[in-house]
Amino acid sequence: MTKPTGTAMMEKLVSLCKRRGFIFPASEIYGGLNGFWDFGPLGAQLKNNLRDQWWHDMVECPPMGPDNTPLSIVGVDSAIIQNPKAWVASGHVGGFSDPMVDCRHTKSRYRLDHILVYRPREGADMHPSYAFMEGSPDAPLKKMKKALRGKSVDELFEVVALADLPEESFALIVAPDTKEVGSLTQPRQFNLMFKTFVGATSGEDNVAYLRPETAQGIFLNYKNVLDTSRVKVPFGIAQVGKAFRNEVTPRNYIFRSREFEQMEMEWFCHPDEAKKWFDYWRNARRDWWVSIGISKANLQLRDHDADELAHYAKNGEGTVDIEYPFPFSGGDGFGELEGVAHRSNFDLCQHQEHSKTKLAYFEPESRERYLPHVIEPAAGLTRGVLAVLCEAYDVDESRPSPELMRFHPKLAPIKAAVFPIVNKDGLPEIADKLYRDLRVRHVTQTDAKQSIGKRYARMDEAGTPWCFTIDHQTRDDGTITARDRDTGSQSRIGIDQVTSFLADKL
Ligand code: GAP
Repeated sequence: MTKPTGTAMMEKLVSLCKRRGFIFPASEIYGGLNGFWDFGPLGAQLKNNLRDQWWHDMVECPPMGPDNTPLSIVGVDSAIIQNPKAWVASGHVGGFSDPMVDCRHTKSRYRLDHILVYRPREGADMHPSYAFMEGSPDAPLKKMKKALRGKSVDELFEVVALADLPEESFALIVAPDTKEVGSLTQPRQFNLMFKTFVGATSGEDNVAYLRPETAQGIFLNYKNVLDTSRVKVPFGIAQVGKAFRNEVTPRNYIFRSREFEQMEMEWFCHPDEAKKWFDYWRNARRDWWVSIGISKANLQLRDHDADELAHYAKNGEGTVDIEYPFPFSGGDGFGELEGVAHRSNFDLCQHQEHSKTKLAYFEPESRERYLPHVIEPAAGLTRGVLAVLCEAYDVDESRPSPELMRFHPKLAPIKAAVFPIVNKDGLPEIADKLYRDLRVRHVTQTDAKQSIGKRYARMDEAGTPWCFTIDHQTRDDGTITARDRDTGSQSRIGIDQVTSFLADKL
């Protein structure tokens, strides 16, 4: 058997992640909570490694720019709850909503664009305007769904009202759990921000929101950063952290959850240079995912059509999604991993107007004063973990325990394991010494129990790139076996070379 695909692969992966402590349903002993997940020991480490690599490559050692100039990017860590006026200015209070429908039969609630399924009526010819619908007519087609985005409620209702469709063409929208057509209510726009109350009273005056994106915390600190550090346009401000969205239908494991993490960077540049930076960042970000182990063939850049642009990108040059073929059923399987958006000066303009604080940048050389335009690479950390897990999962039937995780060594939660081949003859003592040497620098585990095959299998499932085994020969000539996770091959190296071997490989 080779690596499974689609839902079969997801089932295997979800089960391995639970069994080995990568990901658990949140508050599982109380039955869980839809859209919330906890990361176990291996998952937390994997997520932190992905986050740290992003921070390293974006903030600590940012890449070179298009003209080989070193880029300047600084980090912030802003509050999750901000003054609610900030979310009015950003457009989230007024416009951050999804169309939602309820099923009168099952009482379930759905995001309209998630449940649109176009079925040709029995014996009906395809309507000419839907001629692009190739392949399975049952699949929710991305192209068709895109056409619905940005529509007003009235327009949406027009599309979903069965009676309005040409009789001979399609039956449309059946709620997934009911057989009958027409059980769905009229779509309503549903704001995705979680509300809370600040202070002891819970009146409307105390309403605040959990941030739905980390980006706004950056815009709110743009002036602070300019005033306190020596950055000059063009420069970037980066932030990693939690974001919260009361998604109508959280689904597909950790792909769409209600609490998740983002890794976002706002790149402030001169308006005339925005197009150049947009082109630069779309490729730079795709290449970054390749650098942490996602194969280039599995990444697709998809430009948004004008009608699917977010409110903040309307005046910009566009948005491109970096997509990964997440193994979910339906559609063409590709889903957004990161978006790179040209936000123009939308956010700075809005915050300037609403806060009455001047946010223009003054260019000393040209003596020009302007609001910078912004290019935003916005990646999902949680979703990134899912892409990394999907990419790494593999099955090798030639091994006694076939499942393994081929993580890039930079991301592997455990970098090395040290095993005495038997738990006697002085071998555990030698292993213990090597383990103590390695754990100073790398996440290392040691284990003397069970057969060596089972111990290797456990490390394969955890995605540990190297295992070092101490055997009887070690006592004679000071060599150990170094086992490679990906090939299962073993080579002998001196025990005194293990530290440099690992440093080289990592
Ligand atoms: N500041 C722009 C912004 O937030 P977005 O496309 O809504 O843009 C950026 O989000 C990234 O955050 C997405 O590409 C995705 O990886 C991640 N993301 C968004 N909603 C998510 C959710 N409900 N669950 C997990 N990740 C999510």
